[in-house]
Amino acid sequence: MLIAHISDFHVFAQKPETPLVRLDAERTARRVVDNLAAFAPSLDAVVLTGDLTDGGSPEDYALLKDILSPLTMPIFTVPGNHDKRRAFRSAFAQSLPFGDGHFLNYEAEIGGMRVLALDTLVEGRGEGALAAESLAWLEERLSSAPERPALVLLHHPPFPSGIPSLDAATLVEGREEMARIVRAHPARLVLLAGHIHRPYQAIWNGAYCTVAGSPAFQMGLDLTQTPHEPPLVREPYAYYVYRIQDGDIAVHTRYVSIDE
Ligand SMILES: [Fe+2]
Repeated sequence: MLIAHISDFHVFAQKPETPLVRLDAERTARRVVDNLAAFAPSLDAVVLTGDLTDGGSPEDYALLKDILSPLTMPIFTVPGNHDKRRAFRSAFAQSLPFGDGHFLNYEAEIGGMRVLALDTLVEGRGEGALAAESLAWLEERLSSAPERPALVLLHHPPFPSGIPSLDAATLVEGREEMARIVRAHPARLVLLAGHIHRPYQAIWNGAYCTVAGSPAFQMGLDLTQTPHEPPLVREPYAYYVYRIQDGDIAVHTRYVSIDE
């Protein structure tokens, strides 16, 4: 089974909300989608970890769905801080099994692999939060099938990148509780996130974690512990392809030229 992990398209129908976003974000997103569609053998699913749109308007989601339309495999996604819960729910109501509650948490399956999607959006804020309700839902879901491995999707990574300014603006509520839950199940959880706009991998409380980069803008690698945001860089876009077979997982990096 092959699952691609992409993130942070930030597409906009009219004008970007975020000054950092490339004005050609639609073009770069389409370039990534073309690459996913051409992947051989065919991908079984795509995970898109938030900030699908830059402003969260219905028009933004209509554009996003047009951009994603060449992908015929299931797409699993979670809202990021630039998404809007109401329009997001409406855009994916037909394909994702949201509950009736406020948060857009859901459980799904990819080829027998369990997917647990967590909503970390706090509308109006860049930072994210895991509400007690969402954490309780995650814990209840995990305890319902204690042996099953799961991919946990969330926009704001609770695991640090080591880039101080970016780590300070990620998951600011529910982090310790999330750490406690992950520590209780480290061998069977994989966390997939976005938000940092720079691809990296981590081991956090024993669990393997990935953050996919963003084709809308990419942060430089700055581990100097300065409080400033790193400069933007023009690097090839990188996404991950998870190959899951007989309980083993290999994670490959796939590069996409978006500036040519
Ligand atoms: Fe983002």
